[in-house]
Amino acid sequence: MIPLLEVDDLTKHFGGLPAVHGVTFGIDDGEIVAVVGPNGAGKSTLLKLIAGLERPTRGSIRLRDEPVGGLPAHQVRRKGITMVMQTPRTFPSLTVLENAMLGAMFGPAHGVIDEREARRRAAESLAFVGLEALADLPVETLNLHQQRFLDLAKALAGRPQLLLLDEVMAGLNETEIRASVEIVRRVRDKLGTTVLWVEHVMSAVIELAERVIVLDFGSVLTEGAPDVVMRDSRVIEAYLGEAQIA
Ligand SMILES: Nc1ncnc2c1ncn2[C@@H]1O[C@H](COP(=O)(O)OP(=O)(O)OP(=O)(O)O)[C@@H](O)[C@H]1O
Ligand SMILES: [Mg+2]
Repeated sequence: MIPLLEVDDLTKHFGGLPAVHGVTFGIDDGEIVAVVGPNGAGKSTLLKLIAGLERPTRGSIRLRDEPVGGLPAHQVRRKGITMVMQTPRTFPSLTVLENAMLGAMFGPAHGVIDEREARRRAAESLAFVGLEALADLPVETLNLHQQRFLDLAKALAGRPQLLLLDEVMAGLNETEIRASVEIVRRVRDKLGTTVLWVEHVMSAVIELAERVIVLDFGSVLTEGAPDVVMRDSRVIEAYLGEAQIA
């Protein structure tokens, strides 16, 4: 079977220095894969390359065997890849529902659905993340975790095949992290969306990820089942000095 996503020898240099270097991996339909690694390891750059927000210096990215590497972000989105950034990208003066509608209109179904259908998909995805009661409020009244959930709802309203999440649990408390873990699990279980997820919250990674890819200095250090990878001495060493692994 063709993997949903195949990344081969993916490399990105910023001014001569490699942020991502020779990264190769595949993701099958319906997997939840976490990308972890110390600060500056290249995790966000990797997601941005896949989302079309950065152009690769070298290497290929294929979505169901179709090359998408180097395409601009809006084209990548239309092919079914949507990224949720660490800092919520919302429009503060619009309502919660209107923000989610933007995701439906400019996501993979771009140009195919009308406003009514966009509204329906937006309402559905708000309910999915538990924000339906806030639909008519302006976004500026939301707290950080509600804005994160809204950003996720906005992404889901576009019905992506592959969802890229960049540290969406950073800054959340224990209860909010648990709620986020449940939502991501339901995204895969109920919507069938494949998830590639950069995360620093190791308890969440161990609970949710089926496979973990460890990046260090832009390259894949190792990959495998979370409990095995997190006990790997090379991984512990890469994290030395960082408290998150504890
Ligand atoms: N636009 C850019 N211009 C120049 N250097 C960059 C740019 N984006 C990232 N880098 C560099 O590339 C390296 C990898 O950065 P990246 O943001 O991908 O790391 P990260 O693993 O996401 O780190 P963190 O855990 O802190 O979010 C870093 O050394 C960073 O300074
Ligand atoms: Mg990052």
